[in-house]
Amino acid sequence: MQYQDILNTIQLELISKKHTGKVATYIPELAKIDPKKLGIHLYCINSGHYYFGDSNERFSIQSISKVFALTLAMSLYSDELFKRVDVEPSGDPFNSLIQLEYENGIPRNPFINAGALVISDMLISKLANPKKQFLEFIHKLTGEQSIGINPAVFNSEKAYSHRNAALLNLMKSFGNIKNDIQTVLDFYIYQCAIEMSCEELAKAFMIYANGGKKLSTNDQILNPQKIKRINAIMQTCGFYDEAGEFSFRVGLPGKSGVGGGITAIHPGQYAVTVWSPILNPKGNSELGMFALERLTTLTGYSIF
Ligand code: DON
Repeated sequence: MQYQDILNTIQLELISKKHTGKVATYIPELAKIDPKKLGIHLYCINSGHYYFGDSNERFSIQSISKVFALTLAMSLYSDELFKRVDVEPSGDPFNSLIQLEYENGIPRNPFINAGALVISDMLISKLANPKKQFLEFIHKLTGEQSIGINPAVFNSEKAYSHRNAALLNLMKSFGNIKNDIQTVLDFYIYQCAIEMSCEELAKAFMIYANGGKKLSTNDQILNPQKIKRINAIMQTCGFYDEAGEFSFRVGLPGKSGVGGGITAIHPGQYAVTVWSPILNPKGNSELGMFALERLTTLTGYSIF
């Protein structure tokens, strides 16, 4: 497959592509990002890596961190984890409160904010130093020890976290949060404030394309059955109330973040990350979705 030629074609198409979205503003620090940033990085299982644009610049991974959190939690818990968070698409925005009330504080899935807050709570219950161990997990997946958080983004989200605090309080009232609410909120926001480049994210996501094994060392990070399940949740829930649209247009499991990143994987083939901070109304990168739709169209391969 001529991946570099295909990426070059997509880059040209993106330059002339009209867009209507805006960068995220509800976390004030994210509003400062240059909307013109654009990069893509694709890591293949067999044959190297391909890229263009700002693919080596770190950005706020935001909700893409939810995949790492679930992976770490699934390495520490058995199926009991899924008694506290379900695996159904929500069809609602990522920070919605509505379903939680009539579904007794059990979030629809681990990739909406409510679900990721429960996963954060579960990680706190098992880890002696959750922040440090979470970062170490990402260092292990990428081999990059310098990955860390952006403190300005962390503080900015902390100052505007009323909705996530509301989700936590509601779930605590149903008994589905075990630890102190501020501690869980702080840890969740910390994960979202981690910065990684397209290249680092694509490298980290190789475990989902490679049956749970790290490509460079063959380390089995998680067993294939658990990886299959995470990929299934990415496919059905990775884009909130746009999960159907992403499946329809792109046809790969993936996860987005309001920093403008999207990472997707083709099992057995590749992991790819695209970054463009302009978001559509559902909070997913507008040009990122377009780029990935063109990737599966021009290669002729998706998982379907
Ligand atoms: O909790 C929040 O609202 C953000 N830290 C993360 C949301 C997010 O990335 C949604 N993704 N598209």
